[in-house]
Amino acid sequence: MEIKAAVVNSIGEDYQLEDLVLAEMQPDEVLVKMVASGMCMSDETLKNGGGTVPFPNVLGHEGSGIIEKVGNVVKGFKPGDQVVLSYAYCGSCPNCRTGRPAACDDWGKLNGIGVREDGSYTFHKEDGTPVNNLYGHSSFTTHSLVHESNLIKVDQDVDLRLIGPLGCGFLTGSGTVVNGLKPESGSSIAVFGTGAVGLAAMMAAKIEGCSTIIAVDIHDSRLEVAKNLGATHIINSKNEDPIEKIKEITNGIGVKYSVDTTGVPPVMNTALTVLATGGVMAPVAISGKSIELNPTTDLILVNKSIIGVLMGDGIPQLSIPQLVKFYKEGRFPFDELVKFYNFKDINQAAKDSISGEVIKPILIMDETYKPLESR
Ligand SMILES: NC(=O)c1ccc[n+]([C@@H]2O[C@H](COP(=O)([O-])OP(=O)(O)OC[C@H]3O[C@@H](n4cnc5c(N)ncnc54)[C@H](O)[C@@H]3O)[C@@H](O)[C@H]2O)c1
Ligand SMILES: [Zn+2]
Ligand SMILES: [Zn+2]
Repeated sequence: MEIKAAVVNSIGEDYQLEDLVLAEMQPDEVLVKMVASGMCMSDETLKNGGGTVPFPNVLGHEGSGIIEKVGNVVKGFKPGDQVVLSYAYCGSCPNCRTGRPAACDDWGKLNGIGVREDGSYTFHKEDGTPVNNLYGHSSFTTHSLVHESNLIKVDQDVDLRLIGPLGCGFLTGSGTVVNGLKPESGSSIAVFGTGAVGLAAMMAAKIEGCSTIIAVDIHDSRLEVAKNLGATHIINSKNEDPIEKIKEITNGIGVKYSVDTTGVPPVMNTALTVLATGGVMAPVAISGKSIELNPTTDLILVNKSIIGVLMGDGIPQLSIPQLVKFYKEGRFPFDELVKFYNFKDINQAAKDSISGEVIKPILIMDETYKPLESR
């Protein structure tokens, strides 16, 4: 089958819209016609060689679309279903069986090496050159072959153009709070970096009942958005020292929880410093950067912890419909953070996201799609 996809041919190159050939569907696969896809900062990291997926590749992992065809052993989906795409997992390792698919023993193999489990490719160029996929599917494409574990069914009344980013950025931010930090109602949290991930963490903190929610960033425009979405305090760390300011806000105690989405080493250290005794910090940025710490003084004697949280550490098939419900109730207004682009403008969308001008770009692959209410 002929499709169109945004290919990255080698490290750091722009996306090129190319005609590719999609492989024959295997019995356990599903053919998805993509309606839209969010762009995540992790795509940018991977595009610049900061990951394991070889080149050439098709990136994107925040897709939303409609099922066109299902393989004959697929049980849970049928043509016409509306779906969000997220990461793949095996379903049978101890962590998958105990409800932690983001900690799947095969996570790296299923999501990060560009090929199917049997080593075959789902995408080829017209001259036969194989092209790698991402997260077992790829979403910067008009069609993709995906595994059942990648798919989350959503109601027919949901606008598919909007909800792809629930598959990664918004899932990660909210899940880091809900499943990772598990804050008690009335507790305090500081979120460093108010991009898609940080703002989702903040919205989730509000839903969980945190009463002090401190947003830290270096852009006033993003901090204003944070304030509108429920931050009780905002700090521009270019103008104010966040350590002093957070001390002041918390009467010298510090916050019980913190999240770092910046991946900047001194900021990650600050996110640890501002914790109260017994506090927990979650660094979630995939920046590849290290931090220095002294376990005795920074962790043990102050009973602090640092936790790693991948993709929000929940079950996407449960968390994403829950986020849709919160969105419909007006409690998770992520639609305020998005800007739509035509698929062909993918390089401009990436630029606007890197510059900080746009929080969550969404590419539209199917301009003819109409949500149920306007059909
Ligand atoms: N752990 C996971 O599973 C997972 C999943 C998705 C994304 N991520 C990662 O999460 C990170 C955040 O993603 P995003 O889409 O929100 O990115 P983003 O770039 O939109 O957000 C980062 C924010 O940090 C702010 N920032 C940068 N330097 C700062 C500094 N020195 N002090 C204060 N603020 C600063 C920026 O202004 C920006 O608002 C990325 O590294 C991404 O790769 C991780
Ligand atoms: Zn598993
Ligand atoms: Zn992502």
